[in-house]
Amino acid sequence: MRHVRVSGILIGIVFVIASSPALRAQTAASDSQAHPWYQHAVFYEIYPRSFMDSNGDGIGDLNGITSKLDYLKTLGIDAIWIAPCFPSPQVDFGYDVSDYQNIDKMYGTLADFDKLQKLGQDHGIKIIFDFVVNHTSDQHPWFLDSRSSRTADKRDWYVWRDGKGTNPPNNWLAVFGGSAWQWDEKTKQYYYHYFYPQQPDLNWRNPAVVSAMNGTTEWWYRRGVAGFRLDAVDSLFEDPNLQDDPVLPGQNAYGDPLVEHKYTQKLPEVHLALKGLRKVADQYNAVLIGETWTDNVAQLRTYYGAAHDELQMPMDLMLTKMKFSAPAFREHFKQVDSSGEWPVFVIGNHDILRSWNRYGDGQHNDQIAKDMAAMYLTLRGTPILYYGEEIGMQNNDPQRREDVKDPIGRLGWPKEKGRDGERTPMQWNDEPNAGFTTGIPWNAIPVTYKTYNVEDEAKDPNSILNWYKALLTLRHTDPALLDGAYIPLNESDAEVLSYLRKASGYAVLVAINMSAVPRTVHFDLARQGIAATSAQTLLTTQSSLKEKASIAQISLEPYGVYIGAVK
Ligand code: NOJ
Repeated sequence: MRHVRVSGILIGIVFVIASSPALRAQTAASDSQAHPWYQHAVFYEIYPRSFMDSNGDGIGDLNGITSKLDYLKTLGIDAIWIAPCFPSPQVDFGYDVSDYQNIDKMYGTLADFDKLQKLGQDHGIKIIFDFVVNHTSDQHPWFLDSRSSRTADKRDWYVWRDGKGTNPPNNWLAVFGGSAWQWDEKTKQYYYHYFYPQQPDLNWRNPAVVSAMNGTTEWWYRRGVAGFRLDAVDSLFEDPNLQDDPVLPGQNAYGDPLVEHKYTQKLPEVHLALKGLRKVADQYNAVLIGETWTDNVAQLRTYYGAAHDELQMPMDLMLTKMKFSAPAFREHFKQVDSSGEWPVFVIGNHDILRSWNRYGDGQHNDQIAKDMAAMYLTLRGTPILYYGEEIGMQNNDPQRREDVKDPIGRLGWPKEKGRDGERTPMQWNDEPNAGFTTGIPWNAIPVTYKTYNVEDEAKDPNSILNWYKALLTLRHTDPALLDGAYIPLNESDAEVLSYLRKASGYAVLVAINMSAVPRTVHFDLARQGIAATSAQTLLTTQSSLKEKASIAQISLEPYGVYIGAVK
């Protein structure tokens, strides 16, 4: 999960030439060109603990988010996915929910949510909640009832099994360390948890669970939520026969043997559950986004559903595992494009090292961050940004085990430092605590906030922030970027990623030099039915190209980006 940390230098020149809660439907089902609303929207993930603190307790909250709607609007965001803000003991920072139909006090109240939703609507920003479907907290009343006796009403809402003698029922391992089975002294059985022991898995084979969970989504849709990001969908089901998972050579950071999660992940029944959730979503024009970690495009494709009746937006998280490489990206996009589905590109989130560090080479991280943005914001598909990515926020891992907040970091130290580093407070300005809180921030802020922050970057025409804004303005207004076909160009170029986004009678040419040396690229667009010999510049990092470029020859500086219109 972890990669090298580095610092970088800010360079680059940006030239922009173009620049009711109870309602059933959040929005029209589609825009004027019959695109479902989410296809032209830009999504933005907010980790609520870390976005903006409105009451000085050092923890972000809903009112803090509300106070930043203007910022999000100016940036070009149409929908925010808020990581779980439901009541929770916070063992897994909210991914252990003890009440699905309320807001945790630390984040505010239902009335605060209503206000955020209403003002969001006024700003044209929809709210997407994070639905933890696989498990609840062990403090959820459902589980308290379930563990109270073997004959309890909700006993079968969770997965309970007898042990094998004094051992757990089988070899299944929790991804957060240790056996996936927890002994319960009171009823003398084990319960199953794919994550922490405080996160017992719901039994999705029980129709009562299915109906309670589907009903919860409906409750929120009626309150104005425009969709859900579904957490850990892969692990909803496990083999009822409890077959052992195959053991692989090696150990993980927690000292457990490596296993193939053959009987605990991606079981076919997952798709039935998704279809059920989708039926409810469709009644409200709501969108379902999936936390879909896949090895390849074929696997990802299954989450849309053969009849397009599952997730509208399964996340393509494969980019997060790839190196910064033009040929590797090109090959991936080729496969994505030939799958025919609507892509959902993501380059960072709250579980992985920040993209600035992950793709960066230690010297050109700012330029690489701009290249990554130029790439995934000009491709066909819906992008999901992670808060702070737009200002080049960097990972800030704890230096000492005793400072770690994320339990997996304490358990796996030093191999696994946990996820605190990618969840640091948003850097709003260069004032104390980066303008995030007047109290003591819950998580340490990287020293780089003095230069990487919203206020300062907004004033700097060359900043990462202004590059993101320009790109987002362009992708919201340019018909080829919105809907044009993806056509790869110069497919054997090892350094420059080039492609067309082609609409009828018009196309956008994108060329990104992903290397530290200058490169000149030549295009022959006659084969694409494009007669023009020069492109009209829409956006570039280079002053030399600010007006236009010759299609026959574009000289790109190291990491230079050129985006131009051709006819
Ligand atoms: C995936 C979430 O993104 C992660 O933060 C969480 O710890 C696990 N699911 C368990 O809910």
